Amino acid sequence: MIRVLIVRSYEELSLEAALRIADVVKSKPDAVLGFATGSTPIGCYRELIRLHRVEGLSFSRVSTFNLDEYVGLPPEHPQSYHYYMFQNLFNHVDVEREKIHIPNGLAEDLEAECRRYEEAIKQSGGIDLQILGIGRNGHIGFNEPGSPFDSRTRVVKLSDQTRMDNSRFFKSLDEVPTHAITMGIATIMEAKRIILLASGEAKAEAVAKAVKGPKTVMVPASALKDHPDCLFIVDREAASLL
Ligand code: PGA
Repeated sequence: MIRVLIVRSYEELSLEAALRIADVVKSKPDAVLGFATGSTPIGCYRELIRLHRVEGLSFSRVSTFNLDEYVGLPPEHPQSYHYYMFQNLFNHVDVEREKIHIPNGLAEDLEAECRRYEEAIKQSGGIDLQILGIGRNGHIGFNEPGSPFDSRTRVVKLSDQTRMDNSRFFKSLDEVPTHAITMGIATIMEAKRIILLASGEAKAEAVAKAVKGPKTVMVPASALKDHPDCLFIVDREAASLL
């Protein structure tokens, strides 16, 4: 079952998520954290930076795994998820470079890169807490509708809607990469704990389908119904159809 925490604002959503991440790190300083990109978790990362600066929350022993990365964008490209993570979190806390894992979308052998990524997650002991966003089409990571629930880290083709949604960050739709590497749904489901964040009316339908609708590959987030410890933190707008 998916538990849902409805909050009043984006600020509250960000704080609730950050405090839960901080609790995990406090109780297990070498925790393995799964991070997501997109506009939604930015406030949560800002709050983590504040907790690091003001309260001395330390990430020095933490390992991190990001959900996904575009194929073909170099790490210094402002729209790459490498760039995003360093800009929005890693440059501002004491996480160690060698404990940061983000799929390499420039790998010559992308299949081998996907296998390597799965192996690295396994070697770390598994993800203690995975943060997720949700797409308007119900995607998690870049697992678009139709992604099998037993899928693992792999190269995927982005849906037209996702490319369109993300084109707001690029100069034109043509510049949005067509493919990405993403953890699979089965990879995500192996995280010991999952927190999904959703803000705004545009996400209301996807949230309602995931929480109240049937389990179906057409709504990738509906797979989370089977997770033993999954919490959605959503603001009122995103919760409006629940
Ligand atoms: P967003 O993206 O946070 O930018 O809305 C979420 C997602 O597509 O997973």
